Amino acid sequence: MRPGAEELNYEIRGIVKKARMIEQLGYDITWENIGDPIQKSNTIPSWMKAIVADLVSNDQSYGYSDSKGMLETRQFLAEINNRRKGVQITADDILFFNGLGDAIAKLYQFLIPTARIIGPSPAYSTHSSAEAAHANTSPITYMLDPDNNWYPDMDDLYNKVKYNPGIVGILIINPDNPTGMVYPKEVLERFVSIAREFNLLLIADEIYQNITYNGYEAIALSEVIGDLPGISMKGISKEFPWPGSRCGWMEFYNKESSKEFKKLCTTLENAKMIEVCATMLPQLAIPKIMSHPEYVPYRKEANDRIGRRSRIMEETLGDVKGIKFNKTKGAFYNTIIFEESLLNADQHLPVDDPKVRALLDNWLQEKEMPHDKRFVYNLLASEKICVVPVSSFCSDLRGFRVTLLEENEEVFRQTFKRLADSIRYYLESSKKVALADTH
Ligand SMILES: Cc1ncc(COP(=O)(O)O)c(C=O)c1O
Repeated sequence: MRPGAEELNYEIRGIVKKARMIEQLGYDITWENIGDPIQKSNTIPSWMKAIVADLVSNDQSYGYSDSKGMLETRQFLAEINNRRKGVQITADDILFFNGLGDAIAKLYQFLIPTARIIGPSPAYSTHSSAEAAHANTSPITYMLDPDNNWYPDMDDLYNKVKYNPGIVGILIINPDNPTGMVYPKEVLERFVSIAREFNLLLIADEIYQNITYNGYEAIALSEVIGDLPGISMKGISKEFPWPGSRCGWMEFYNKESSKEFKKLCTTLENAKMIEVCATMLPQLAIPKIMSHPEYVPYRKEANDRIGRRSRIMEETLGDVKGIKFNKTKGAFYNTIIFEESLLNADQHLPVDDPKVRALLDNWLQEKEMPHDKRFVYNLLASEKICVVPVSSFCSDLRGFRVTLLEENEEVFRQTFKRLADSIRYYLESSKKVALADTH
């Protein structure tokens, strides 16, 4: 195996194995680990199902598409981008993949191992693992700062780019997974100016571009990039939502601006040609769904509901002592960071059932376990809430990621109340032990 194989790690799914063990003991798990709206009882509107049902009864849906993707769909998507009045593209600048996960894997795979893409930390692991696997080493990251609204630490980015000539591109995730941040224009313009200064490719994962609320809106890479080379990555897993469709695409900006970039785009197209094409049915559905009169109001209502949950989360967690909390502005995640000096290996949550206790004790044997993982295991055993530790998002910060997907507002409120109570209990728990010991 290549050494890079060891970099492939996806704790978002890994934690599920542990949760299943608790489930087998007869408990219901509150799944907060994965961004799958369908798993959280998001319902697909009947007009959308009718479009898909119609396509299912059409023989064309069962064939191959052009290797780049259906021409009409690519034309439709190019037109949507062009309405933003930034970089203009044609159908030729769009390439379909089997989900954005597939696009991400392909993107890094064709770069030589010494050509590095620097990405945000905390990192969405599909990017960081794929980048690290291609380079046969750990990922290179710039810090997102929980003390400054999760905005990127631009000095950190600048210095890493300046002193690491292997870096050929910058990854931006906007709106961001796992922080829920939406970048203001000045931040995006700073990325562009650094890319210009060091002759870098800009890659923006914009899968959450249309999932913003409470007055925030995501500015697209195509609006700020000017004449630099760039790739935007988009998909329908979150927006429709249709994660099981495995359908995502790349938009290439300014393909002619550099010889190397053009070659990368051609290589990606050739790679898709070898595979024949991406999934057909969702591509046929995209223009029909996105141009349906109900689509914009439907998405707005779904966003408004996430926005309401973001406010509930802020009410519940905003004043908890010992954590850094930034409200969610886009996508549907929040990353809560512990004040690191407050964490230690003696902290715990109450677990009454001896069988669950035995499982937890066993999990806690893991060597060199980061403190946030201890909390996550305790939370799973105590409250049966399954979250993902931040240490598994390529970060030195200690905390955890939650989702804002629970559609039942009362269940959502109760979950975050339990979470807030658990954080308070956990942070106080080692003091309780210390006090008990002295008496
Ligand atoms: C930032 C980001 N990019 C890409 C993906 C993967 O999307 P897809 O389902 O299209 O593979 C996700 C999924 O959670 C994501 O959060």
